[in-house]
Amino acid sequence: MVWFTAMSMDGKLAAAGDSLAFLDSIRDQELEASDFPRFLDSVDAVVVAAGTLRWLVREGHGWPHADKPTWVVTHDAQLVEAVRTPGAKLNRFEGDLSVLRATLVARGFRRVWCCGGGTLAGQLLALDGIDEVVVTIAPEVVGPGPGLFGEHLTARAAFDLVECRVFAANAVRVTWRRRRAQERA
Ligand SMILES: NC(=O)c1ccc[n+]([C@@H]2O[C@H](COP(=O)([O-])OP(=O)(O)OC[C@H]3O[C@@H](n4cnc5c(N)ncnc54)[C@H](OP(=O)(O)O)[C@@H]3O)[C@@H](O)[C@H]2O)c1
Repeated sequence: MVWFTAMSMDGKLAAAGDSLAFLDSIRDQELEASDFPRFLDSVDAVVVAAGTLRWLVREGHGWPHADKPTWVVTHDAQLVEAVRTPGAKLNRFEGDLSVLRATLVARGFRRVWCCGGGTLAGQLLALDGIDEVVVTIAPEVVGPGPGLFGEHLTARAAFDLVECRVFAANAVRVTWRRRRAQERA
């Protein structure tokens, strides 16, 4: 699974109050927007957790990727129904994410986007379900807020750097791939 997201310089997905205003600090938003569809084309399914989906709903976006097979990780069945559109490939999952991971493998999905947030990504990392992290780092510090892997992660995990490049004019896009062989050695 690939955890593709953006964070502040201090590793937060959002500032206090769930504000994503820090993303406006990335210059050349047009370039940022044009970059995303390429990533979206590269994935064949999406997993999103309740906190992230609620933010999208509050901002009036609903679930914008309904054409992709999507699993919403939540205890809240109403949340899923609230964003369901005709033909949407929406599923709800709750509980042990290793079961969800096995389902995605069994369904033959090659590349799945972990859309967030950090609470979800942290659980996936703990069960060794994150293969790649692609994160755009914005040039702003936001203080308290949800972290890249949530607040409760105790697992440790090593990654190899695949790419690090200037993104737009003033941010950085880093791609890391999970290093597994060395951890087992
Ligand atoms: N910077 C970015 O590009 C970016 C990307 C993604 C998210 N975000 C931001 O990050 C924030 C959300 O992140 P977050 O870490 O707080 O929350 P999150 O991971 O999106 O959602 C956490 C919630 O999902 C549900 N959940 C998680 N694991 C579950 C499981 N195994 N079974 C059933 N339900 C489960 C629970 O809610 P219920 O019990 O209510 O179902 C839990 O409180 C938002 O502010 C969002 O805007 C930013």
